[in-house]
Amino acid sequence: MRTPICDQLGIEFPIFAFSHCRDVVAAVTNAGGFGVLGALAYEPDRLEIELKWIDEHVNGRPYGVDFAMPAKYVGQGGGAEATPEYLKTLIPQGHRDFVHRLLDEAGIPRLPDDFEHRAPKAAGLNVDAEGPGQMEVTLGHAGVKMVVNALGPPPKYIVDLCHDNGLLVGALVGSKQHAERQVSIGVDVIVAQGTEAGGHCGEISTFVLVPQVVDAVGPSVPVLAAGGIGDGRQMAAAMALGAQGVWTGSVWLLTQEADMFPEVTENLLAATSKDAVRARVMTGKPARQLRTKWTEAWDRPDAPEPLPMPLQGLLYGEAAERFSRVHDKGFAGYPVGQIVGSIDRVRPARDVVLSMVEEWIDTTERLNGLMDD
Ligand SMILES: Cc1cc2nc3c(=O)[nH]c(=O)nc-3n(C[C@H](O)[C@H](O)[C@H](O)COP(=O)(O)O)c2cc1C
Repeated sequence: MRTPICDQLGIEFPIFAFSHCRDVVAAVTNAGGFGVLGALAYEPDRLEIELKWIDEHVNGRPYGVDFAMPAKYVGQGGGAEATPEYLKTLIPQGHRDFVHRLLDEAGIPRLPDDFEHRAPKAAGLNVDAEGPGQMEVTLGHAGVKMVVNALGPPPKYIVDLCHDNGLLVGALVGSKQHAERQVSIGVDVIVAQGTEAGGHCGEISTFVLVPQVVDAVGPSVPVLAAGGIGDGRQMAAAMALGAQGVWTGSVWLLTQEADMFPEVTENLLAATSKDAVRARVMTGKPARQLRTKWTEAWDRPDAPEPLPMPLQGLLYGEAAERFSRVHDKGFAGYPVGQIVGSIDRVRPARDVVLSMVEEWIDTTERLNGLMDD
């Protein structure tokens, strides 16, 4: 079963897999889907290494790259007031004290003086400093057939460069108004992402959002359904709603190829759908993530308001250095969607793709059978 986007991109199955992990991207692409590498954490030089590795492992098959360039963030425009060092000075002392108290009370040891800090990474950080370089690297890889952006319309230079080079541009949206705005600036593929989704998300459920977006921008603009899709029944439902394919994220976290801390994997396997909570506490914008001691602490009466992006992400990053160093399970969180409650084992990514396709076909046949009756 194919949809027009399969032919547009040269793929077998309309299954799109977002992952920060190149092994997952390659495995899904090699299984006939479309892997998309989340480039948020990769500065241009590192992105070059990741994309080269993917090229060497997918035998000419197509794949995508995702930038999460927000429409609004502190430090917008770049320059001296957008460096991580400067932005860190904007974090109020009260917030730092709250975090230190929280970690001290939980018995998380302080960092040793000789601790080697890694370069800070956070959504909305280094967008202007690194974006053009990331784009240039991306264009150097012929296997990349689509560039996708989240958190708002992609910057104009991204849309123009993609179109000049024959690449499709996609964008994640959480409402039909956002979809219309994206199409008006030249976006070719809309990912309609419901609130069930892992990571940054809006408030409308996938089941309600997808047909609204399809009605608003389809059929000329392909719509992919995202949020809460983990098996072939959900895929069949997405197609029934008018989507041309499914865009998935959480399901790949529990695959053998995913590069995860073991304590995070354990927490994901144990989680129910109710444990995927939507909060601003990881990045500064609402994102669905695993409930942890971190998310719960920010609900306490003595908690300050989460900071705007990327300040909250910088604060989270500092705390994560402390609790990840000792592999503390109580703080071990991750962005994840409600589908986490349906996944109880770690499988090869290829198996996930193929079982999703089989179940999609079985479900469609079952529904067709109802027509015969
Ligand atoms: C761990 C994780 C990180 C994510 N980071 C991004 C990101 O950087 N850029 C982006 O466009 N979407 C990101 N997303 C959202 C996914 O692209 C996708 O829309 C979402 O996972 C779909 O819903 P699902 O999690 O229910 O499959 C992320 C999702 C997860 C689970």
